[in-house]
Amino acid sequence: MSEPDPKREVERKIEELRQELRRHEHLYYVLDAPKIGDAEYDALMNELKRIEAAHPEMITADSPTQRVGGKPAEGFKKAQHSRPMLSLDNAYNAEELADWDRRVRELAGSLPVEYTAELKLDGLSVALVYQPGSDPNSDGDAQLTMGLTRGDGQTGEDVTSNIRTIRSVPLSIPANLVQRLRSPQGQGIEVRGEVVMPEAAFLRANEEREREGLPAFVNPRNSAAGALRTLEPSIVANRRLVFFAYFLLVNGEYFAAGQTATLETLSALGFRVNSHRKRVTTVEEMMRFIDHAESQRSELGYEIDGVVLKVDAHATQQRLGYTGRAPRWAIAYKFTAKAGVTQVKEITVQVGRTGKLTPVAELAPVFIGGTTVSRATLHNADFILGLGLRIGDYVKVERGGDVIPKVVEVVEDAEHPRGNQHFEFPSVCPECGSEVVREEGEADYRCVNADCPAKLRETLLHFGRREVMNIEGLGEAVVQQLLDRGLVRGVADLYTLTEEQLLGLDRFAEKSAQALLAEIAGSKRAGLARVLMGLGIRFVGERTAELLAAEFGSMDALMAATAEELERVEEVGPRISQAILEFFLAAANRALVENLQHAGVEMTAEKKQRTAQLAGLTFVLTGTLPTLTRDEAKQKIENAGGKTAGSVSKKTSYLVAGEEAGSKLDKARELNIPVLDEAGLLALLAGQAPPR
Ligand code: IVH
Repeated sequence: MSEPDPKREVERKIEELRQELRRHEHLYYVLDAPKIGDAEYDALMNELKRIEAAHPEMITADSPTQRVGGKPAEGFKKAQHSRPMLSLDNAYNAEELADWDRRVRELAGSLPVEYTAELKLDGLSVALVYQPGSDPNSDGDAQLTMGLTRGDGQTGEDVTSNIRTIRSVPLSIPANLVQRLRSPQGQGIEVRGEVVMPEAAFLRANEEREREGLPAFVNPRNSAAGALRTLEPSIVANRRLVFFAYFLLVNGEYFAAGQTATLETLSALGFRVNSHRKRVTTVEEMMRFIDHAESQRSELGYEIDGVVLKVDAHATQQRLGYTGRAPRWAIAYKFTAKAGVTQVKEITVQVGRTGKLTPVAELAPVFIGGTTVSRATLHNADFILGLGLRIGDYVKVERGGDVIPKVVEVVEDAEHPRGNQHFEFPSVCPECGSEVVREEGEADYRCVNADCPAKLRETLLHFGRREVMNIEGLGEAVVQQLLDRGLVRGVADLYTLTEEQLLGLDRFAEKSAQALLAEIAGSKRAGLARVLMGLGIRFVGERTAELLAAEFGSMDALMAATAEELERVEEVGPRISQAILEFFLAAANRALVENLQHAGVEMTAEKKQRTAQLAGLTFVLTGTLPTLTRDEAKQKIENAGGKTAGSVSKKTSYLVAGEEAGSKLDKARELNIPVLDEAGLLALLAGQAPPR
């Protein structure tokens, strides 16, 4: 009987966990039918991470733990598309579709003409390349080797590191499926499709940007585009992008017989394919699908801007061919933006948490694309000027992506006379009467009064938000009353509220008062990151707050930090460090922190582990390591408390030697100093004895 091989056992366990995680990712992100909850998924993931950390040599690029990796060192490289990524010709009505259908049938001659109707997803097209055998550790699987943006259609940007973070993109295609595609050597497997940002993720991203004082994205498409071009994969992962596949090339050629079969193959390969699609033959059927798609539009959860009709059979597609810029075998039916005309009754001005003044058009209610619109933002003074808008004007309001209504132009004709009241941007704050200023180069006016009640109200509301201190029940009505009655003058006062005081407010009884007090008391344990967010420091949103908290571990340490120390934190640059320093320079803000501390608000966080495994040890690096650069290895050693030196001496604890190690290796042997390879170093870092 042979002993069980421990290494094989570990390999088997790792593979089992990976398969399990991939299965659940597929269920959740591709099929939209999760079988387990987040906690269970996280537990599996953590177990895999733990085992991989102990056996770093077994990590493969397509492991579910490897989605969020390092940033591309020198920005994005350009790369050539295997064949051009074309655009589509447009149609806007049934007649134009009928014209196109006629042309298709003429050119197709005796070949079959049937169409696939698909949604036109409003995102960015990307091309993904999978190569079999590119990872020697996983035989036969095809690994995702490149993700390219469309670019100019000929060359795109290599955004692979960001594409990898999209959970609906498989990191590899299993060998048994690759085999079914029949020896796809050479150019490998290429999958094209659309990256979209779901509306929920878009709204969340914009809330975050608003909190950080950054301009909002205008629509999910721009937001997705911005995400794909971000150089920090962890940020992209946070944007929850989704990839829908609709095009497949195997070794540079069409694989399936037609578009319907292509979509089925893509689905079998593990890709997410949009389920809203239909085989149609007549223009009437096309229009029925289009009308249905348009009526479903606001319920999809992601944006579409039309329907794409494609000749189904690839043989017919090939006969039809391409014009310079677009295929003759496909056409995009574009929805026209939903618009309505209505009157601007009034322009009001809102004051935000940072004191920013935002003009808002108060509209005569108008029904557009399924909802009643009665207000629309006018952004800032320049926007109003650009429109030439007066109060009383009729305006065209559009709901393009079905998200936020936009005032697009002033309408003037016999039925819609011009308004006659010019709008003057207020020179004083509409809430407190203080002066408002517009700084050079900025579009916005701000109220200068630090104690402006509007700022205070918005600050309190922000403080109580779920993502911040999570005080349930601290809504607008309550905050307004607390302010009106002079019960709070700042967030710290929340912690001294009494049951008696709350009972004096409208609609408060013993039970509700106690519940709110319990919520407030509970928020004391929200932790440093949330307190930092709650303070409302410019540019410090959720992620930055978390990174700062993990780095400094306490408010005191953070407040004592220099610009240089702050900028050591990932994602913190001069702009953010400046904002933090300025914030804590103001006496009022320091007093606020002190008051919160007095109230018992905890301001500590678990510090990022500066592990000290290697404390007291000195390393010398030589030769080329298989995956780490010299700098990365040095960084890892120092982060774990070790030292590095340039030459081998009796004081050297370990020599880390890669390929083509030279005289240092000889010297180490001579002095009997232990020599590690990269795996040995990683094992040591993971807290294990290095393999002998
Ligand atoms: S097929 C040869 N199908 O629309 C062109 N495109 O306006 C193949 N798009 O660049 C494109 N949804 O980014 C196709 N279901 C779909 C689509 C789709 C969105 C985008 C794609 C393309 C643009 C053209």
